[in-house]
Amino acid sequence: MRTVQYTSSLFCSLLILLFFVQIQAQTNCWSSCGEIKNISYPFRLKGDPSGCGDSDYELSCVDNKPILEIFPGKYYVRNISYYDHTLRLVDVNFANGTCGLPSGPVETTNGFVRDARFMGYGWNPGSRFRFVKCSTNISSMPEAAKHTVVPCLTRNGTYVYAVYDGDYSYYEPQKSCSVISLAPVDLRKDVTKFNSYEAVMELLKAGFEVEWSVTCRDCSLASKQCVVKSMDKPFTYICKKEYKELTRAEGNWIIAAIVVGGLIALGIIIGIIVFVIRRCRRRRNAADNTNKNPQNRISA
Ligand SMILES: *[C@@H]1O[C@H](CO)[C@@H](O)[C@H](O)[C@H]1NC(C)=O
Ligand SMILES: *[C@@H]1O[C@H](CO)[C@@H](O)[C@H](O)[C@H]1NC(C)=O
Ligand SMILES: *[C@@H]1O[C@H](CO)[C@@H](O)[C@H](O)[C@H]1NC(C)=O
Ligand SMILES: *[C@@H]1O[C@H](CO)[C@@H](O)[C@H](O)[C@H]1NC(C)=O
Repeated sequence: MRTVQYTSSLFCSLLILLFFVQIQAQTNCWSSCGEIKNISYPFRLKGDPSGCGDSDYELSCVDNKPILEIFPGKYYVRNISYYDHTLRLVDVNFANGTCGLPSGPVETTNGFVRDARFMGYGWNPGSRFRFVKCSTNISSMPEAAKHTVVPCLTRNGTYVYAVYDGDYSYYEPQKSCSVISLAPVDLRKDVTKFNSYEAVMELLKAGFEVEWSVTCRDCSLASKQCVVKSMDKPFTYICKKEYKELTRAEGNWIIAAIVVGGLIALGIIIGIIVFVIRRCRRRRNAADNTNKNPQNRISA
């Protein structure tokens, strides 16, 4: 009997200990991969204990390089700023400075592929390169002045160009051309035209920044939009309050309630006025009576 009690209490202590170790792991674990020594919440590395970080922010570590897959593309994580909540990403296809297309389309031709996990205010990438494929050589056309030919993809009746867009301006591809891919890059206010593909490559190689926000991710899970709460760095966000639209029936009920309420209020006001007028009249009558019959007073 005693031994059973002893073992069961030992077992309980062990469970409690395990529980605390688990809690400790959740709040205090950090991993390292290559140059990024401090991968911690909300990020986690594939293979970390299940309590570490958030599974929506999982990086893989390949050849000592942390990789994030989003948008959908593959990016090396070059820097994590836990203060700004920003990541610097470099497309795996551009990291070595080799000529080619981005690993993922990143954007549709009309707009960005949105990802609630990385939807911070900062995720309005200053600028981008559009990769455009044409069936004719448009290099000599004045409208194509900003098109830089992508040499490795241009051959045999296929002409691929990179077109820089610094302010997300409306872009209408030239005749015989269509947008095939997009790559975000840092904003270069001083440059509108890239004369060589080496210059394009240099910017692509430097990567771009995205901001993460766990709050916005949570808003999205609750089918709400997230909005900036404070612009002080680091930005903070809140879920936008929902303004539920009324159905027609609800609207009618509200109108009916207002009408009925108004009528009741009007009735009460009329009642009060009538009551006051009656009282005044009665008082005046009483006063008139005493004035008309002074003998009453004498006799009294
Ligand atoms: C890693 O970053 C977290 C959050 O910014 C911080 O609390 C922790 O001390 C850092 N650890 C190391 C080893 O730098
Ligand atoms: C990472 O970003 C922080 C904040 O912007 C900066 O201070 C730091 O120098 C960067 N580190 C690297 C390796 O780029
Ligand atoms: C396209 O035209 C330009 C100028 O007309 C020329 O320099 C270039 O070699 C042409 N490109 C190809 C791939 O034919
Ligand atoms: C390019 O065109 C030439 C001649 O028209 C042809 O011999 C060659 O096979 C083509 N190459 C490709 C990759 O289509």
